[in-house]
Amino acid sequence: MKKIELHLHLEGAAPPAFIRSLAAEKGADLTGVFDARGSYAYDGFDGFLRCYEAATSVLRTPQDYARLLAEVLERSAEQGVIYTELFISPEFCGGADLSAWRDYLAAMTEIADKARADGIDSRAILTIIRHLGPDRAKKTAICAAETAGTWVTGFGMGGAEAVGRATDYAWSFDCARESGLGLTCHAGEWGGAGSIRDALSLGVTRIGHGVRAIEDPALVGELARSGVTLEVCPGSNVVLGLFQSWSAHPIARLADAGVRVTVSTDDPPFFHTTMRQEYNRLADAFGWGDTEIAQINRWAAEAAFCDQATRDRLL
Ligand code: ADE
Ligand code: ZN
Repeated sequence: MKKIELHLHLEGAAPPAFIRSLAAEKGADLTGVFDARGSYAYDGFDGFLRCYEAATSVLRTPQDYARLLAEVLERSAEQGVIYTELFISPEFCGGADLSAWRDYLAAMTEIADKARADGIDSRAILTIIRHLGPDRAKKTAICAAETAGTWVTGFGMGGAEAVGRATDYAWSFDCARESGLGLTCHAGEWGGAGSIRDALSLGVTRIGHGVRAIEDPALVGELARSGVTLEVCPGSNVVLGLFQSWSAHPIARLADAGVRVTVSTDDPPFFHTTMRQEYNRLADAFGWGDTEIAQINRWAAEAAFCDQATRDRLL
């Protein structure tokens, strides 16, 4: 079945071999980033963030990002994905400097246009990194506002949820909203219901993860009534130890309670997953089949940060 993915970090989708070859070209030392089998090596969420940032340090030019995007879109298309939204951090693209960011965006837009002609459509969600703090976030918000309505249609926040509160970033989210961008925020992954409520107060229509809403039945009811969509990444949650197993994951309970859930891979090579694997595991754990996949795709299309003509094509 054709699939829609709403939550894929471009840097986090970089295959280890891609990062290794870029490191070799640049003479960069990535000691400790890979294990003996060549996979990304990390322990726990903080270790994951450090490994992610070390791997990303070899992406240094617009051309590096363009090459990465081409490879990631090709892999997504192989998984049956017809539309994907990519979290991209201008922090890694020239330090969130607007003129540098425009160069990165131009290089990636060329690739995205080519891929669209080949059957996979995409949009970018510019992403602030929570643990870098609200002041650094403002620079990214300005990049987002100044390039809104191009390939860039969304604005979000990732990074360490334990640092500060989502509301500390209200200026950046307001700036993005005023420029017409769709809003999403990682919450309810390493924080509980209070963290999700903080994110909702920013006016987001989607939550990245949001799965710990299950701890608060009143919040589950509010999510169901409001139609806020969760970008659920079950494989990421299981590998990072948020839930002990696929059958313990709350995605099916959230869906049964009427919450709009979608399925994504987050950072596929880090979590040894693919979109096909996510759906296969959901089939094994919850007996989900074509009917559930079709419902998830509908919810994803309705929540996508795209124009109505694109949405109509996806529905
Ligand atoms: N950045 C990349 N993956 C992430 C995750 N799962 N949570 C927060 N920030 C991230
Ligand atoms: Zn994420």
